[in-house]
Amino acid sequence: MGIKKVENTRKALLLGATGLVGSFCLKQLVNSPIYSEIYAPSRAKLDIASRKLINPIVNFDQLDSLHEMFSVDDVYCCLGTTIAKAKSKEQFEKIDYHLVITLAHLAHSAGARRLAFVSSMGASKRGSFYLKTKAKVEAGLTELGFQALHLVRPSLLLGERKENRVLEKFAINVFSKTSFLFRGFLLRYKPVYAKDLASFMIVCLTEKKDGNYVHESNVIV
Ligand SMILES: NC(=O)c1ccc[n+]([C@@H]2O[C@H](COP(=O)([O-])OP(=O)(O)OC[C@H]3O[C@@H](n4cnc5c(N)ncnc54)[C@H](OP(=O)(O)O)[C@@H]3O)[C@@H](O)[C@H]2O)c1
Repeated sequence: MGIKKVENTRKALLLGATGLVGSFCLKQLVNSPIYSEIYAPSRAKLDIASRKLINPIVNFDQLDSLHEMFSVDDVYCCLGTTIAKAKSKEQFEKIDYHLVITLAHLAHSAGARRLAFVSSMGASKRGSFYLKTKAKVEAGLTELGFQALHLVRPSLLLGERKENRVLEKFAINVFSKTSFLFRGFLLRYKPVYAKDLASFMIVCLTEKKDGNYVHESNVIV
């Protein structure tokens, strides 16, 4: 029986590594035999040590001098905020649309071939401002022309957060008592563990064929 050859030369750029989904992506990427280097730029230092990890502390308003980190094979984008945190729709759009597109564009121009992006369930031109912004960023990423693009649309995310999000905590609490209801048609609304989403994104970029994909929440396992 032949031994499966393990590719361990790919470089990844992880955006949003300090966040809920991003921190799970980071742990899984540094443990993946497929990747030899992980660039994870962040505003605050990451508290994980790995010889594979390169963690530049970045002012995301000044990206001009940061060429090296964009020269990767695969991009994992878990970066985003909330309208409440951003304090205005304009500021939210600046991060969730303009910053995401700028970073993806820089990576694509530097040769990145694959990108996985955390969008949201219900992303649509006809949705709320949040969902319209997600639809707009999905369209912008598609236009960039990656060899493989995976737009992942999770329902409510589950996982331990450092910050206190009251409404989200309430929804998670309700879910924990009603999870048995999410079957059949309702499966698409079932909340998703951030850890499972991170694994799913990595499978998308390392195991699936090239092309453009939109993954709805019910396929994230
Ligand atoms: N929460 C949900 O239930 C849910 C459901 C569906 C989809 N989503 C989407 O999933 C994505 C990831 O969610 P999450 O809960 O993992 O997010 P999160 O925990 O809030 O993490 C967001 C990440 O984005 C970074 N970020 C935010 N503003 C930034 C800025 N101005 N410059 C640079 N980095 C910035 C954060 O860095 P800092 O640590 O420096 O702030 C952090 O690393 C988001 O786009 C969200 O819209 C969330």
